Amino acid sequence: MDRELALEIVRVTELGALSSARWIGRGDKNAADDAPMLYIGEKVGNQKGPSVDVAVDPLEGTEVVACGLHNAQSVIAIADQGSLLHAPDIYMEKLACGPELAGKLSLEDPVEVTLQKACLFSGKSLSELTVMVLDRKRHEQLIHSLREAGVRIKLLGHGDVAGAIAAALPDSDVDLYMGSGGAPEGVLAAAALKCLGGEMQGRLLPDGPLEQQRCIRMGIANPTRVLYMEDMVGTGDVLFAATGVTSGEFLNGVRFIGKERAETHSVIMRAQSRTIRYIRSIHFLPGKEIPDALTVRQNVASL
Ligand code: FBP
Repeated sequence: MDRELALEIVRVTELGALSSARWIGRGDKNAADDAPMLYIGEKVGNQKGPSVDVAVDPLEGTEVVACGLHNAQSVIAIADQGSLLHAPDIYMEKLACGPELAGKLSLEDPVEVTLQKACLFSGKSLSELTVMVLDRKRHEQLIHSLREAGVRIKLLGHGDVAGAIAAALPDSDVDLYMGSGGAPEGVLAAAALKCLGGEMQGRLLPDGPLEQQRCIRMGIANPTRVLYMEDMVGTGDVLFAATGVTSGEFLNGVRFIGKERAETHSVIMRAQSRTIRYIRSIHFLPGKEIPDALTVRQNVASL
């Protein structure tokens, strides 16, 4: 895959972030969300570039933006055609870690065993481990087990792509990401983790026969088996880019400067080189058409 595409995809997330930022704190999560404009499996593009799979969440953290909270991002990943899992919009149980623990853990282990293994392979004691978990009622039991084990827990309000990434960033204090969140977000996180040399395992959590059927229709024959990196992002190269909409775990949000300028912070990563690039951009707004939902969609389509 052409590495020059990295700059193209970060332009898309910058525009997505600038567009979403207009909705920060306005209490309207649907207006802020471009995602309904795309559907899973939709074919986009002008047939001139390379054939790639695209996973995109123009706004990861709709509620976050509506309420003016932390951790909203505009996120995209691309990989060779046929590499990215067509993830249904249901929950997925997730276990993510950095390079040190990649290949050493299993989502099928009880939480206590995972923690013991994490200690063994990281050289840390339980009290030195930090686990990030989405702060949800459904995680009560998980959080209880983690507390019993004596690890440090970082509760996350929203945005589990950033949460999973935090487990693999070289300068992060998070060792593991655990718990369930959106399945499409799981694929995006897996793409980023591949670029970071980390690992993500996932298991879809279909709620009843209708969601089971949906998984099967989307090509996942056994919807409850553990999905590994190759199932979610394939074995080839992957590019991942994200731009902060509101400030979060590893990116600052959009900052409007006066009437004419805005600053964005983005990250671009590539699996093959494992380079992590941070880009701080100052945009001159009168010279830039800040896109509405349709234009963001067209930017993805013209990649
Ligand atoms: P949205 O952008 O769809 O609002 O997702 C935000 C998010 O926090 C995701 O990062 C996460 O995967 C999912 O919601 C968790 O879902 P829920 O809020 O139902 O627990």
